[in-house]
Amino acid sequence: MGGVCGVISRSGSDVIGIVVECLRRMAFRGSDTAGIAFLRDHIIEVRKGVGDINKVYRDRALSSCRSDVAIGHTRFSTHGRPHVDNAHPHADCSCLIAVVGDGAIANYEMLRDELFVKGHRVVSRCDFEVIAHLLEDELKEGISVEEAVAAVARKLEGFFSFVVLHAESRSILAYTSLQELYVGLSRDLIAIASTRSSLHGFTDVVTELRGGELAVLSRDGVRFMDVKEMRPLEKEFKPLEVKAEYIYTDGFPHHMLREIYEIPYALLRTLSSIQEKYLTFASRLLQEAESIYIIADGTSLHAGLVGSYYLSELAKISPIVVSAAEFPLYYVENVGPGTVVIAISQSGETSDVIKSVYEAKLRGATILGITNYIGSKLANLSNLYLPIAAGPELAVPATKTFTSTLAVLYIVALRVAKERRELSASEFRNRVEELKKYALELTKHMKNIDAVASEAAKKIVKCRSGYVISRGITYPIALEGALKLKEVAYIHAEGIEAGEFKHGPIVLIGENFFTIFIVPVEKVAAEATYPLMKVAKERGATVISVGFEHDENLRMVGVPTLLVPPTTRHIAPIAFAIPLQFLSYRLGELLGRPIDSPRYLVKKVTH
Ligand code: AGP
Repeated sequence: MGGVCGVISRSGSDVIGIVVECLRRMAFRGSDTAGIAFLRDHIIEVRKGVGDINKVYRDRALSSCRSDVAIGHTRFSTHGRPHVDNAHPHADCSCLIAVVGDGAIANYEMLRDELFVKGHRVVSRCDFEVIAHLLEDELKEGISVEEAVAAVARKLEGFFSFVVLHAESRSILAYTSLQELYVGLSRDLIAIASTRSSLHGFTDVVTELRGGELAVLSRDGVRFMDVKEMRPLEKEFKPLEVKAEYIYTDGFPHHMLREIYEIPYALLRTLSSIQEKYLTFASRLLQEAESIYIIADGTSLHAGLVGSYYLSELAKISPIVVSAAEFPLYYVENVGPGTVVIAISQSGETSDVIKSVYEAKLRGATILGITNYIGSKLANLSNLYLPIAAGPELAVPATKTFTSTLAVLYIVALRVAKERRELSASEFRNRVEELKKYALELTKHMKNIDAVASEAAKKIVKCRSGYVISRGITYPIALEGALKLKEVAYIHAEGIEAGEFKHGPIVLIGENFFTIFIVPVEKVAAEATYPLMKVAKERGATVISVGFEHDENLRMVGVPTLLVPPTTRHIAPIAFAIPLQFLSYRLGELLGRPIDSPRYLVKKVTH
């Protein structure tokens, strides 16, 4: 993942400073490495390095560069560690093309192998380098650069966007499969970037590139094409309106809100980032294990609890889920060479997780790490690690990393199930496809889910305590919802199993107490839950429910409902987490909480 940009000046004035400032404004998308490529006469020059754009600006003397055509990149590492070789821009063998990209290319390993066979010098582990070499091959066929870009785009799988600097035509070409990409215009500048707000002050009007569209930027202006049909497109430009105070957070008042809105895209990136061969390894490890532990803390522990449902229901494997804080104290004595420990930590630095991993390794266990950070301690200590690939998460309350971790665990469980012949190859593919489709569907519903959660927040805001209630595979989402309400809104909340409701928790129900029911996906379990809602309502509690659109029964209960588009039982935990995150955010906002940095909490709990 990362932020991409490209700028051309019609008058021939210098654009390097503009590219650098655009990259600063996109640093929240990742700042492991940064770099620019520009034309010096007709030669492409690349300057890049490890660290954020400010560091690279100093280290690589960007202040001395001048050009009227340039592209730039700031990177979050998902393929290849933070290293200068893996930094974008990537050039082809003859240095006539430079490429920067955002997202993940799912089939890059296969393409990379093919390029090696053809004799290309592919120097990085970064998935986007293949584009430069594929373009080099296409251009040798004598076709135009836009035909070449279109031909390469058709070969790539995954969710990505990329921007190309082409020396000969002095043009910038950009394509997106879905990732955000915006083209802006002013009297002098033609620019493209991953975020609208990075163009603030540089261009006056802007348009968004949609999936499958290509933009060709040159001194003469910008043209758009539909890549599938190779036909020209007309696109409408609108005034670029961004609040100046939010240009470094993509127009959002808090990182948390931006990160919730990013969930559908993060899910798609996660799905594109899990490489086939690592999935096969992970599946083998789990099938051969004598015992399996899932260890994690906080939100990641809740993801692990959902993961245990995935593994037991789909793959017929029953892992033991333990808090990483408890594991070295009470469980490690049972660990041996036949044990596989699935260690989950978005930061990859949580001290409890790292200590548990050390202890388990000392006893011969194999570690399957799941983390968002490729260079983290957990990634380095793991025998095999799978990337969450959600992109940087800057708000302390975890949101998109939670849903993307669920996606990783789901895919792993599906893969084991396929290899154990619990699922056929086509069922496996269909289920992965279902999750992709659901993520795409979610992009259309996020604003509405947020709006309804905002209204629900106004009803709950008077309460100082409450329950989040569910059962089965969505019970861990009740635990996670309660954690989010505590962290973000400082409201006391407890996750309760619906079946336990009448065995004690019911005594607290009354005025100024809220109960949020996440309706279980299974019909029988749902039917056993509706009466509990009525009980809570009759006793004066503020009742909210979380469920699927078109649930008639839910309508009959007559309580405010946070609805998500219907989906399968195994995708439901991902779906239901989202309205609860929005609800917590909106409550935190109403109560004036320091949402991105709750008191006493840090993003990495390292001691
Ligand atoms: C999440 O909102 C919390 N801030 C916290 O519970 C967190 O999930 C926990 O500290 C574990 O972090 P990790 O995933 O980075 O290991």
